[in-house]
Amino acid sequence: MQNLNTYVLAIESSCDDTSCAILCNNTVLSNITANQKIHEKYGGVVPELASRDHQKNIVPVLQEALKVANITLEQLNAVAVTVGPGLMGSLLVGLSFAKSLALALNIPLVGVNHMQGHILAHFIIDDKDHECPQFPFLCLTVSGGHTQLVKITDHLCFEILGSTIDDAVGEAFDKAAKILGLPYPGGPLIDKYAKEGDRSKFKFSTSHVPGYNYSFSGIKTSFLYFVQNNVQKNPDFVKENLNDICASYQHHLIEVLLKNTKNLIKETGIKHLAIAGGVSANSELRKQVKALETELNIKTFIPKFEYCTDNAAMIGITGYYKFLKKEFSGLDIIPQTRMSL
Ligand code: KG4
Ligand code: ZN
Repeated sequence: MQNLNTYVLAIESSCDDTSCAILCNNTVLSNITANQKIHEKYGGVVPELASRDHQKNIVPVLQEALKVANITLEQLNAVAVTVGPGLMGSLLVGLSFAKSLALALNIPLVGVNHMQGHILAHFIIDDKDHECPQFPFLCLTVSGGHTQLVKITDHLCFEILGSTIDDAVGEAFDKAAKILGLPYPGGPLIDKYAKEGDRSKFKFSTSHVPGYNYSFSGIKTSFLYFVQNNVQKNPDFVKENLNDICASYQHHLIEVLLKNTKNLIKETGIKHLAIAGGVSANSELRKQVKALETELNIKTFIPKFEYCTDNAAMIGITGYYKFLKKEFSGLDIIPQTRMSL
């Protein structure tokens, strides 16, 4: 009898997280991630150090993923791996490793776009009550390197309707945190302090860009001047106002993100909205997106925390859909630091 189950090993190493997952069809059997702590003290990811840590982590992370899934290498049907976008050295570690595994096991290699992975994480079926968005749906993808409004018409059909013309919203979080003296990545810390703060205490500037595009570079600069000016007057300004600064700044970023999103929903009439990427872990963004259900009479899809920030499970689900369509990659495939959807 034919084996109907497809076992996909997925590898993600595009930035500073080394992750391996095993999927059986669209369910996750294991999803193991080694986070690199080394970048904290530098206030951002140091590419050379990230590649070296991936080299150290990749074998133990794979072994753990196999152990948790209770699967042997011989049972795998395909190896899915992030091809881009991301850091060249980091991508090279995962891609070279995936190529050698696919070659040694004589199974297909499936190259995956990391940003497609963030979106398709919504199609991982971890429990029987899980609901997937229905096509066509919109996704606000918000990560450390990207901010995109995407229309998805099929598992592998994406159309970008808006994106940032400069910094990503994740960078706007992380750089502001650095200005406040917080370690990298600062997004989760701003989220934490904002919970105790007054979001209407301080106001920040907005950059106007045409269409459904975004710009966060000016907001980040205005934040820098805001802190510098206030610290000049009161050296303890940050310490005394940390919660209110975080709450006000976070509120501003979310307002900017949701303004275009709401306009796009009204314009397209699309009733299903998902969020994806590291910043979709933000508690206030999750709350405000959920509130759009009643405000706009739509249905929203908010990922589980483990599928917000970088993880191999999202690469696995994308690899699974590509596997079904026999979209395999040759062993001559190379990493792409920039890659369109
Ligand atoms: O998707 P991701 O893990 O990596 C990229 O593909 O870039 O996103 C990382 C970004 C970082 O900027 C991090 O600060 C942000 O996601 N992030 C958050 C939160 N958790 C992670 N930003 C705001 N609030 C959070 N709770
Ligand atoms: Zn990511």
